[in-house]
Amino acid sequence: MKFFVDTADVTKIRALVETGFVDGVTTNPSLIASSGRPIQEVLKEICELVTGPVSAEVTATDLEGILKEGRYFAKLASNIVVKVPLTPNGLKACRQFSDEGTPVNVTLCFSAGQALLAAKAGATYISPFIGRLDDIGETGSDLIHQIMEIYSQYPHFKTQVLAASIRSALHVVEVARMGVHVATMPPKILHQLYQHPLTDKGLTDFLADWEKTGQSILPA
Ligand code: E4P
Repeated sequence: MKFFVDTADVTKIRALVETGFVDGVTTNPSLIASSGRPIQEVLKEICELVTGPVSAEVTATDLEGILKEGRYFAKLASNIVVKVPLTPNGLKACRQFSDEGTPVNVTLCFSAGQALLAAKAGATYISPFIGRLDDIGETGSDLIHQIMEIYSQYPHFKTQVLAASIRSALHVVEVARMGVHVATMPPKILHQLYQHPLTDKGLTDFLADWEKTGQSILPA
């Protein structure tokens, strides 16, 4: 299972890369907007920081515009993945990018039927948004389960399931249990995965007991 970070904050990405847990990055127009920086500059910096795939989302909605923006992104760096919305034009562009050998992340997936279309359009990744489904009272992880079930019936589908809109460490565990290929998460969720109060308490107790011995592990 791969971990992508869902942010356009280069400082946070740089720090997380040092953990060794960052396999790739996803961005979207809202994340670029919150960075307050030009998209081209941000994407180039991210692509230099991580060797894995970096999703860059188009904002055009017509086919020609999506193709132009996607081809522009693909030239920025060799690890760019063009991110397109799950719309008829997005899926037409997905088919074309895929035929040209450009990897595509199909985003804003909220149903298993949509995920089926993305796989048939040759998507490299499908991004079901689980948190946003939870937000409207549905169970986002059920969607992941359905997509994994469908894709497993058709081994010729090469589309990887990229669980997105992750809001908690529990979401990461849930989708990992279903065998998703990738989970993309905000930096704070990656940090949360480390945490358990019994780890902190256990370490405090071990160190207090060790202190009492007056020993040191390394010879003086
Ligand atoms: C995925 O690629 C999206 O950028 C992201 O996961 C959306 O998450 P949100 O619902 O927290 O905005």
